[in-house]
Amino acid sequence: MSGALLEVRGLRAGYGALEVLRGVDLDVAAGELVAVLGPNGAGKSTLLRAISRYDVTLRGGTIVFDGADLTRANTERTVRLGCLQVPEGRQLFGRLSVEDNLRLGAFVRRRGTLETDLRSVYERFPPLAQRRAQHAYTLSGGEQQMLAIGRALMARPKLLMLDEPSTGLAPQIVEQIFAIASELARGGTALLIVEQNAYLTLRHAGRAYVLENGAVALAGTAAELLRDERVKAIYLGGSTA
Ligand SMILES: Nc1ncnc2c1ncn2[C@@H]1O[C@H](COP(=O)(O)OP(=O)(O)O)[C@@H](O)[C@H]1O
Ligand SMILES: [Mg+2]
Repeated sequence: MSGALLEVRGLRAGYGALEVLRGVDLDVAAGELVAVLGPNGAGKSTLLRAISRYDVTLRGGTIVFDGADLTRANTERTVRLGCLQVPEGRQLFGRLSVEDNLRLGAFVRRRGTLETDLRSVYERFPPLAQRRAQHAYTLSGGEQQMLAIGRALMARPKLLMLDEPSTGLAPQIVEQIFAIASELARGGTALLIVEQNAYLTLRHAGRAYVLENGAVALAGTAAELLRDERVKAIYLGGSTA
């Protein structure tokens, strides 16, 4: 796809001598919600971390984000460019207040609009507004996921990547998180979401990639993948019946 916000081509990456990603091609355009599915150990988290330039060794291929070459960028520059990842497990500062966690998300920005952005995060996530002075560790799992997303929003992302946002959350809360992701996409933000829950994710995504063993095994629109016999057999486990 030309004109994509994120264009990954032939990406090979891993950890030291271990090659995990073996030539991945992927695109995400502004306003798209794109899912990455696949079994445990397929390299989904490695893919997100390679894109956000966090602790993964690149071995080949290109990552172009908003016209910039991310293979030459560090994590901070990647964040400044508007490419943000909410890591698996959320990685909040539990001993800091909700509000301080949010303020830290804006570390790459100049001051000035910070208060406006805080207000808009609180409007989007009312439970965070009620708990702004509480330690982050006192929040429920769903509230912590909201805080992790809110913190990323403070950096004004053009692309927001979520790694298994549904982990440990009740189905109703997961629906809320996906509703928020869809709303952000409608507002023009690009979303790249890694999930184990294939059916749920395909119901919200526009397109999806299935990653197996460090390579893209299948790619298509969410509607195509929901109909795909192989996806049905391996990833949907009859749950669409
Ligand atoms: N920090 C790390 N150091 C070394 N190997 C890692 C590291 N993180 C993940 N791996 C390995 O990379 C492979 C892909 O892992 P990962 O990207 O986490 O898969 P997924 O997110 O699809 O479950 C696995 O074999 C895993 O053991
Ligand atoms: Mg993972």
